[in-house]
Amino acid sequence: MQLIPSVSMAYETLLLETDQNIAVLTLNRPKVLNALNAALLRELDEAIQSLASDAAVRVILLRGTGGKAFAAGADIAELAEADAAIGQELAARVQRLFRSIEALGKPVLACIDGYALGGGCELAMACTLRLANPAARFGQPEIKLGLIPGYGGSQRLPRLVGRGAALKLLLTGAVIDAAEALRIGLIDELVEGDSEALLARAFDLARSIAAMPSLAVSAAIEAVDRGADLTLENALALEAKIFGRLCETDDKREGTRAFLEKRTPVWTGR
Ligand code: CAA
Repeated sequence: MQLIPSVSMAYETLLLETDQNIAVLTLNRPKVLNALNAALLRELDEAIQSLASDAAVRVILLRGTGGKAFAAGADIAELAEADAAIGQELAARVQRLFRSIEALGKPVLACIDGYALGGGCELAMACTLRLANPAARFGQPEIKLGLIPGYGGSQRLPRLVGRGAALKLLLTGAVIDAAEALRIGLIDELVEGDSEALLARAFDLARSIAAMPSLAVSAAIEAVDRGADLTLENALALEAKIFGRLCETDDKREGTRAFLEKRTPVWTGR
């Protein structure tokens, strides 16, 4: 796989590479298992905003460097210094960042090889889909620090895996393996093999999504994301509205015509 480093964006705590319309964003603090410190979070925010506005990028893969971790959580050295005001401000700021990843309008696929703990697991949960290999380990160990998750974990985890399975992880701080994460619905796919095999599978999935019309891709994410917390009635009304909006697009005209004319559609993203 020929990844091209992005020369326009030089980060200290991230690597940004591209392969055609797929961007690979790598958390890059391997000495501390890619712990999420202030510098990394600031750069992640910048990178996400720039990828969001780059029309050439259709899908983003998010992973960690070093072979041991996706991310081992918030930087505990920084957390140790936080008082009530700083803790609340930090949590709110990172929650906004993770929410912007969730609502980006482009799929973000987390590729998890090694530890995804605390804030690392929370970051993965904010992604559109989660792929992991057998080396992956998951947990919300904040309880062992006298804390609860602050980057959305107490809310996204029960939504993903159900109340009981979430509380088991939140109350014990237990670390689970990838097979258990798949069983409870914390990850979407378990890819046998090493980090290269994981990346290769993530690229396959990314390419198959990137081959779809972009407005419909972002509409599907929007419908699922915004509908999740509505009543069924309101969620169905939302779906109808988004469906109607897509009916006006060139890509819908092209997709339906191409089907009827028995040819491959040519998408324009309009
Ligand atoms: N913050 C800061 N440094 C971290 C870190 C973190 N979250 N996780 C690991 N590191 C550092 C270690 O201190 C160590 O540094 P030194 O070499 O300078 O000692 C280095 O990374 C390697 O880690 P270990 O030697 O501990 O590696 P290990 O293989 O023995 O253990 C581990 C791996 C089980 C993941 C262990 O590092 C660990 O338990 N890390 C902390 C996990 C954690 O509690 N995460 C939650 C953080 S709180 C949070 O995220 C709150 C929130 O929601 C906002």
